[in-house]
Amino acid sequence: MPSSTLSASERAFSLYEALPYPNVPLSQTARNALPEMFKMSYTTAQYVRTHAVIEPEGKVLLNAGCGSGWETLMMAEANPGAKIVAFDLSPASVKLTEERLRYHGFTNTEFYVLNLLELDRLGIQFDFMSLNDVLYLLEDPTEGLRAMKRVLKPEGIIRANLHHRYQRQVFFRMQAAFQKIGQFDVAPATGAKHVREFMGSLQEEVAKAVLWDPLTYKEDAAILNNYLLSNDKGFTIPDLFRMLQEAGLGFLSLVDMPDWSVESLFREVPEFVRRKLEAMSPMERLHLYELLRPAHRLIDFWVDHAGSSLVFPWSDEDWLEGSVQFNPILLDNSRFHQEYNQALKDNRPYEMQWTGATHGRLSIPPDKLKWLAPLLQGQTPVKVLIQAATEMGSLDEEKATDEVLTYLSALEDFLFVLLQPSF
Ligand SMILES: C[S@@+](CC[C@H](N)C(=O)[O-])C[C@H]1O[C@@H](n2cnc3c(N)ncnc32)[C@H](O)[C@@H]1O
Repeated sequence: MPSSTLSASERAFSLYEALPYPNVPLSQTARNALPEMFKMSYTTAQYVRTHAVIEPEGKVLLNAGCGSGWETLMMAEANPGAKIVAFDLSPASVKLTEERLRYHGFTNTEFYVLNLLELDRLGIQFDFMSLNDVLYLLEDPTEGLRAMKRVLKPEGIIRANLHHRYQRQVFFRMQAAFQKIGQFDVAPATGAKHVREFMGSLQEEVAKAVLWDPLTYKEDAAILNNYLLSNDKGFTIPDLFRMLQEAGLGFLSLVDMPDWSVESLFREVPEFVRRKLEAMSPMERLHLYELLRPAHRLIDFWVDHAGSSLVFPWSDEDWLEGSVQFNPILLDNSRFHQEYNQALKDNRPYEMQWTGATHGRLSIPPDKLKWLAPLLQGQTPVKVLIQAATEMGSLDEEKATDEVLTYLSALEDFLFVLLQPSF
């Protein structure tokens, strides 16, 4: 069919059928993509929902719109012992996903060619679903959320995301520009070639302002998934909350919540702003953040059945009597152990990429690495850490308690450590 007669959704289908996304070699493991694995972790999401540490073993997980299966592999590697179901509209993508999971030895799996809107045809209910970089491609994303809710178990969680309207505005403008000059009506390879020629002939400052960098856009897929992406749409925080309400879903958290702190945008928060902030709902605070600093490509979130979760904040008593553990994504990762031990040995900070940390960068200073080290062995009573901090830092017990509780609760904000109370 000549591509000029294709509808937007047919164009999107033909793009992913020709170039399953993303283009990652079959043999590559996802195990060291820790921030990405974190978003796919059932245990992490349930901790956000209930404050309980629940193993993924035996749970039924869904990767919707699985693309080339890179995301599915992350899901399988992040959730040992879970059953993994994956589907996509594109048969070529599903075939690649199946090959990828088989290559990495995962057998408790099912794969389908399916439209998200017909998800209930599978007849399966899920404990956890991930839908990455798909929702904004649907004609009506709320319908996509409703389709997922219909097959979500009562205690289940959905992780999904939307393109951000302000952060990505250059691409939306350029998509409109390329539409005007007919580049959505030609074959994808021709369109990509024309985009290169067009951008290459712009004045330097104009090209910079539309984020053109020939090195970033060496592959056609990068151009097609940005400047020429059919059906691409942008959303704000109020849009998300309206859609969740329409779909009967409840907001749990953004997956990178600490990185959306309004306070972090100020050198010092003026008193009248502080008073306003205290009275704001989570939605209003996140919206204020995005108005001031639309820095995130995605609004990436966890949701559940509306009204099904209730989390009480931890008290000092819960911390003092409880035990903590590293997030299982870290605990199960041999590179994390190696690099942590090396930093300890060299008496330098341990630095890593971690979701929600400022600009994705987390740095743990050497003195804290020392008293946190028992966590490398597994769950540890907080009192043992306080004892270690007292001895290592030559602190009195009150100071050590204060330091340990303050630092642990900051790490817990990043879901880097999880607390299990003693009750
Ligand atoms: C940008 S890719 C994302 C792939 C994968 N989720 C990832 O993050 O690596 C979008 C995928 O969504 C799929 N898709 C789009 N609309 C869909 C629908 N209605 N039902 C199922 N899959 C869909 C496309 O075929 C494509 O593979």
